[in-house]
Amino acid sequence: MNISVVGLGKLGAPLAAVLASKGFPVVGTDVNRAFVDAINTGTAPVDEPRLQELIDENRERLRATPDAAAAVAETDVTFVIVPTPSDVTGGFSNDFVVSAMQSVGAGLRRKSGYHVVVITSTVMPGSTGGEIRAALEAHSGRRVGDALGLCYNPEFIALGSVVRDMLTPDMILIGESDAKAGDTLERIYDKSCDNKPLVRRMNFVNAELTKISVNTYVTTKISYANMLADICDRIPGADVEVVTQAIGCDSRIGVKYLRGAIGYGGPCFPRDNVAFAALARSIGARAELAEATDTLNRYQIERVLGAIQARHPGTGAIGVLGLAYKPDTSVVEQSQGLELVERLLEDGQDVVAFDPRALASAQASIRQPFQAAASAEACVRAASLVVVMTPWPEFRAVPAEAFTRSPRLTVIDCWRLLSREEIGAVADVVYLGRGAAQPAPATA
Ligand SMILES: NC(=O)c1ccc[n+]([C@@H]2O[C@H](COP(=O)([O-])OP(=O)(O)OC[C@H]3O[C@@H](n4cnc5c(N)ncnc54)[C@H](O)[C@@H]3O)[C@@H](O)[C@H]2O)c1
Repeated sequence: MNISVVGLGKLGAPLAAVLASKGFPVVGTDVNRAFVDAINTGTAPVDEPRLQELIDENRERLRATPDAAAAVAETDVTFVIVPTPSDVTGGFSNDFVVSAMQSVGAGLRRKSGYHVVVITSTVMPGSTGGEIRAALEAHSGRRVGDALGLCYNPEFIALGSVVRDMLTPDMILIGESDAKAGDTLERIYDKSCDNKPLVRRMNFVNAELTKISVNTYVTTKISYANMLADICDRIPGADVEVVTQAIGCDSRIGVKYLRGAIGYGGPCFPRDNVAFAALARSIGARAELAEATDTLNRYQIERVLGAIQARHPGTGAIGVLGLAYKPDTSVVEQSQGLELVERLLEDGQDVVAFDPRALASAQASIRQPFQAAASAEACVRAASLVVVMTPWPEFRAVPAEAFTRSPRLTVIDCWRLLSREEIGAVADVVYLGRGAAQPAPATA
């Protein structure tokens, strides 16, 4: 089975490489010529662990073309993974997907035989069977049915582990126009997954709802744990880690994503939650739970700023360790570290920051430039107060000596990452989520 992938970005490039690594001949296409050229010269177009390795190993089965119609015409299945940016209502715009249907349709006109079009971009409920199907049928001159299958098949991946998550997913979610289309797609996953994931097949709208519901549920769990961390901040002796680890023993709850730290970010969680609430409101359903999750998430940065304000000596730079929205990625979209830097700069504070991968992307997306340190250690040495914003494991390796000075350095550790024995011995480490992280309330 020959496969085409339309959109070679953060998700499309890894998918193309994973499918090629499992023996499928894959041709990718993108409106961004640089991404097409990157694939053809054997270079990963995006920064993602293991992607380069997969491209290196599978070059004979992986190539790209700027001609999307040609890519579709020479293949049997087409995955469409183009952006679906949030619109003013909080929902997702289908404009890029609908526009991609023009070239997909043109390619289908050039070929005969069965073809399946798979929408992998995250779309709002009603989209696949609505305007996307209409655009596909109009441009291809074919009706979805015997000669043309349509599926909605979003990926459940996290940036930084996209390849691993694609190879060993918990679930394959397939919204299908009919059984033939779903069977074709399921056969691809039979071959491409290293594990035997649960497969859930359903109609389009249930699959579209499932996708945004999963992320909304996870963000609710994160905000719940963060609410608990905020409570623990204010109670001497309380420790969110101890409480969440115990709560997570209950099999109805589980420990995953129940960490209690700071807000969630990235290109999916914040906007999927907002889209879920927008959907509920648009059809007259109650949206308070999703809205509260978002409100609590936006509040998390205030917790960090409050902790800084209470302890900053007043002069010297504030050192921010971590700008990526999570470890193992250079993505800074909606990242708490970047938001902190922006808020501090707006407030006229001096900032020095470091991130193992995201320094360049942070500088490119921030309004005011900040001082970038050459290493985590240099960032600590240059700062008069340090905040750990992303739990990169390498921050643990900064030697205690870098934190040692008189008067003692204050470190605000949002992820309780640094060793209490080593760093706590030489610096005043404030672990967010552990009693007394916030200043005591003023008494009358
Ligand atoms: N990044 C994630 O973590 C993630 C996770 C789950 C779902 N998604 C969803 O996947 C979709 C894609 O996300 P992404 O992060 O890969 O986006 P991205 O911006 O990194 O990549 C999208 C690519 O599509 C290309 N493109 C746009 N229009 C095109 C067209 N008509 N033909 C060919 N190429 C075109 C762009 O040039 C870009 O390279 C979105 O709907 C997103 O919500 C993303």
